[in-house]
Amino acid sequence: MRTSQPQTIYLKDYRQPPFLVERVDLRFELFEDGARVHSTLALRRNPDGGQGAPLELDGDSLVLEQLELDGESLAESAYQVTPSSLRIDQVPDEFSLYVVTWILPQDNTRLEGLYKSSGMFCTQCEAEGFRCITYFPDRPDVMARFSTRVEADKARYPVLLSNGNDVDRGELADGRHYVTWEDPFPKPCYLFALVAGDLTEKRDTFTTMSGRSIDLRMYVEHRNAEKCDYALDSLKRSMRWDEEVYGREYDLDIFMIVAVDDFNMGAMENKGLNIFNSSCVLTSADTATDAAFQRVEAIVAHEYFHNWSGNRVTCRDWFQLSLKEGFTVFRDSQFSADMGSPTAQRIDNVALLRTAQFAEDSGPMAHPVRPDSYMEISNFYTLTIYEKGAEVVRMLHTLMGADGFRAGSDLYFERHDGQAVTTDEFVKAMEDANGRDLTLFRRWYQQAGTPVVEVSDSFDETAGTYQLTFRQSIPATPGQSEKLPQHIPFAIGLIGENGQSLPLQLVGDSGDAPEERVLELTEQEQTFTFEGLNARPVPSLLREFSAPVKVKYPWTRDQLLFLMTYDSDGFNRWDAGQRLTVDIIQSLMDSPQETVVDPRLVTAFRHLLSDSRLDQALVTKMLQLPTEAYLIELADEADVQSIHKARTRVLNQLALQLRDELIACYRRNTDDGAYAPTPDAIARRSLKNTALSWLLHINDEEGRSLALRQFSKATNMTDQAGALRALVNSDFEEDRTSSLDAFYAQFSDDPQVVEQWFSIQAASPRAGTLDAVSALLEHKAFDWKNPNKIRSVIGAFAGQNLVNFHAADGSGYRFLAQHILALDSTNPQIAARLVSPLTRWRRYSASHREGMKAALEQIQAKPDLSKDVYEVVSKSLAG
Ligand code: BES
Ligand code: ZN
Repeated sequence: MRTSQPQTIYLKDYRQPPFLVERVDLRFELFEDGARVHSTLALRRNPDGGQGAPLELDGDSLVLEQLELDGESLAESAYQVTPSSLRIDQVPDEFSLYVVTWILPQDNTRLEGLYKSSGMFCTQCEAEGFRCITYFPDRPDVMARFSTRVEADKARYPVLLSNGNDVDRGELADGRHYVTWEDPFPKPCYLFALVAGDLTEKRDTFTTMSGRSIDLRMYVEHRNAEKCDYALDSLKRSMRWDEEVYGREYDLDIFMIVAVDDFNMGAMENKGLNIFNSSCVLTSADTATDAAFQRVEAIVAHEYFHNWSGNRVTCRDWFQLSLKEGFTVFRDSQFSADMGSPTAQRIDNVALLRTAQFAEDSGPMAHPVRPDSYMEISNFYTLTIYEKGAEVVRMLHTLMGADGFRAGSDLYFERHDGQAVTTDEFVKAMEDANGRDLTLFRRWYQQAGTPVVEVSDSFDETAGTYQLTFRQSIPATPGQSEKLPQHIPFAIGLIGENGQSLPLQLVGDSGDAPEERVLELTEQEQTFTFEGLNARPVPSLLREFSAPVKVKYPWTRDQLLFLMTYDSDGFNRWDAGQRLTVDIIQSLMDSPQETVVDPRLVTAFRHLLSDSRLDQALVTKMLQLPTEAYLIELADEADVQSIHKARTRVLNQLALQLRDELIACYRRNTDDGAYAPTPDAIARRSLKNTALSWLLHINDEEGRSLALRQFSKATNMTDQAGALRALVNSDFEEDRTSSLDAFYAQFSDDPQVVEQWFSIQAASPRAGTLDAVSALLEHKAFDWKNPNKIRSVIGAFAGQNLVNFHAADGSGYRFLAQHILALDSTNPQIAARLVSPLTRWRRYSASHREGMKAALEQIQAKPDLSKDVYEVVSKSLAG
């Protein structure tokens, strides 16, 4: 056990900062055995802050070397240094503070603050990493102008970067050199960045809507020089899109992207100097899958979009994190939808939300989009902040309409440019621009838990009217037992006997009757009556998933099959298929002696596989069976083994009965043309690889030779990895090992591909994977200091290989606990993220519960447990 309980930070305790920082002048001396940071702060008492308060600056793992106030050294009695702060009791209202600190980037395994990655220096300051560099008021509402001079050995570190524009450079003694950067925009310190290394530079330009020419520069290690094109193209598309859709123009003259191998997250939006995890920015046809290309496009866009939604307008405090993250995720998903297949994009977003965010929202870590408290802010970069936060913004878009939403965002950016604000200001701008009252809507930010909407209907044949009644409820979550109704935009359509869309004529509404309506639910129970119908329609509910809620309606299997074929909303066609398949899998679980899968499902899948006129991007999504993770989330008491068995049975039967269609589908979608990550080509590759994996699932000999051929002849990574995965998950023992060996031999010098090689093995549901996974941890390419390697082995095992992670003997849980404990000391952020598969132990069947709980208790017993891991573990065990 930790000896002391970490402090909880509350939103209600927010106070304005007592001191403001006008300017920060930094000078970094970078050496192999450490770095010296000279910081000169122009400080001033905040007229709206606490009067007479002492100056208190944040610091973490710093050695204070020098301290001067207005040019005078301070006597030791004039200040106090603690492990987390520097305090000076007597200061004037306006003064200059000079602080010199000594830090150890080469020993920094937490990857917060300044650290070294593959020989280069880089930084990660969000959320609270700047305090690991120098003493500073490390909070987002303190915004300052930064200048940064970086000094280092010229041969080792020819490239020296920071935010803004490079204004000076020159030579120093001993083979050293320096570059000075000025950032004209005041910013919170979490957006500070520095990079020093031997990097190659790729250049491009972008002309903004007002005709300014922007220098785009991408910096990568020399061996990655050929992997930059797609990121730079994505960047230019993002810049254009943000001008066209949001009217937002880029503001500096330079925009830089850097790729680093060791990074806790995906990427970071530092002002003018975005830093990326290599796996989220480098691509080439033969090393990156379609999914990787899509991820790169989305993340480049996301970080770029932050320049307005996050940087120009930033967060007042970290409780407002969704102000920038939720909004920016919404923006990047709009962008991805515009660049690719909107329906496929929506399906992917919703699948993630319903599987993982809904699980979070009903577990011990459930919190509102704007949390009320936290112990460690790093634990709050959650699916709720990001994905539910994006859904909340999306609902505003639905309620205001595209033009109203744009008016609201224009007003928000204009009003708050250069400010640090709250989610309330965002909603207020939407209200003011549209003349609407969003009081009830604000509850989406305040209440945790996924609303449940129960829908019932009745048809009056003689009157020709159809009634829909909606009842909403929100389950209790930690710290919130009572909930109030929320404002839910609920999009619907009605479908007639022949599959036609029916006009929605509301009783008492004299306007036209559209074929789709967004009903606004604001009360616990509401009824809507539609007239002019001569037969009972089938309702198409929550089209496009217009709100992040669970819908309950007693669909029959025939209704679902009907919706799968006829719903004009592509998302709902997919959803109907998912609901039908879930129902069939669940009924097999309830009666394990039942062996036949409902033949109607086979027919529906046959149709999907064979009809090439259907939208192939949608078809390939519809062919994916609901994941085990989703089935677990739907269960009251999840028994992972029986979920796995029932799902596998359905997959087997479908594959056996549709074997010829799978072969035909495979052949139809084979394409030897040049690789391009276009929506159509991505859909075809996905279909082909799904067909392949199904064929290998039933040990089909022809499937096997197709896979071996595809593996050796592939001209792109999607196909090569697709074949490898199918073989690895198959019973063809020899092909499995020979293709794994061949793949490693081919790509052993490419870390991103080796990470894929790790995760394909770690995620394989075959029996006995745990031993193989343990062996991977001993592999020479594995590196405990590299988060991507940890994620690709331990993360893939615990997060994707559910049948083995939840092995009956508890071995999976012990394995995870053991490695979390080791990582807790080196990288607590990564360790805390790995706890999440254990947190919902109460939702599993008795056979799993004890083992999961024991693993949590074992972690909790570590004496000096980090605050990060402590928060997640103690909240999981509490109550
Ligand atoms: N600001 C975050 C990165 C971040 C998060 C830094 C937490 C430090 C702590 C960045 O904008 C982000 O959200 N990145 C995402 C990817 C994005 C496409 C959702 C990430 O890194 O996963
Ligand atoms: Zn972000």
